[in-house]
Amino acid sequence: MSADARPLTVPDLTAMKAAGRRIVMLTCYDAAFARLLEQADVDVLLVGDSLNQVLAGRETTLSATLDQMIYHAASVHRGARRSLVFVDLPFLTYQISVAEAIRNAGRVLQESGAHGVKLEGGRPMAETIRALVDRGIPVLGHLGLTPQSVHALGGYRVQGRDEATADRLLADARALEEAGACGIVLELLPADLARRISAALTIPTVGIGAGAGCDGQVLVLHDMLGLNEGFNPKFLKRYAELGQAVRAAVRSYASDVRNGRYPGPEHSFD
Ligand code: KIV
Repeated sequence: MSADARPLTVPDLTAMKAAGRRIVMLTCYDAAFARLLEQADVDVLLVGDSLNQVLAGRETTLSATLDQMIYHAASVHRGARRSLVFVDLPFLTYQISVAEAIRNAGRVLQESGAHGVKLEGGRPMAETIRALVDRGIPVLGHLGLTPQSVHALGGYRVQGRDEATADRLLADARALEEAGACGIVLELLPADLARRISAALTIPTVGIGAGAGCDGQVLVLHDMLGLNEGFNPKFLKRYAELGQAVRAAVRSYASDVRNGRYPGPEHSFD
């Protein structure tokens, strides 16, 4: 995306799929990274509730709050003006009633400036998605390993390996498209199943651990930059080792401070 490129819009996502252009999505939680990601041509910045693990150091996403998501989404929106910004609706902000889902998703758009929300679940969420979309709130679905259900699913493991679950996921994906979702994140699915789901839909799928047959890919930024060094699942490709770079830079600073090399005259005022 060049500096004068027009901002992406939500309908562009389906147009990209139709044109065979893969969607590039990364998680993003702050304005500084939003600027960098946009300059590097990322199409969609996802303010994922993974921030509860990545930034806050919790075991799961379950305790993320709506106010936290709005705070981070507003920061991301201020940093990026051309990429699309989608925001995870946290656990229990959309499952209790359709009215609460509308109020909470509306708050996200109103208070952060983001373009749309993402929520987890298949056919049981179709009515909610329809209600949000009918009120002008774009919705990304999320199927497969849905982290807000990690306890029910028995851990962070590949879903849809057996035929019955695969059929259910395909039916879920169709229901989400019918309900008006503008795309679906497919997490931890066998590549063949993700390919079948992608081929069955006109809206794009964005995969994470779901193989090459999706219409786009998403990774957690801190994982792919090497800032979360203990996390090494098979699907992850590390594109940088920023953990090492940060330690080296900080050691160098600490040594300069301890040895009186920093600040030098060039860093000091007369
Ligand atoms: O919360 C998140 O970061 C996500 C991605 C892993 C897709 O949902």
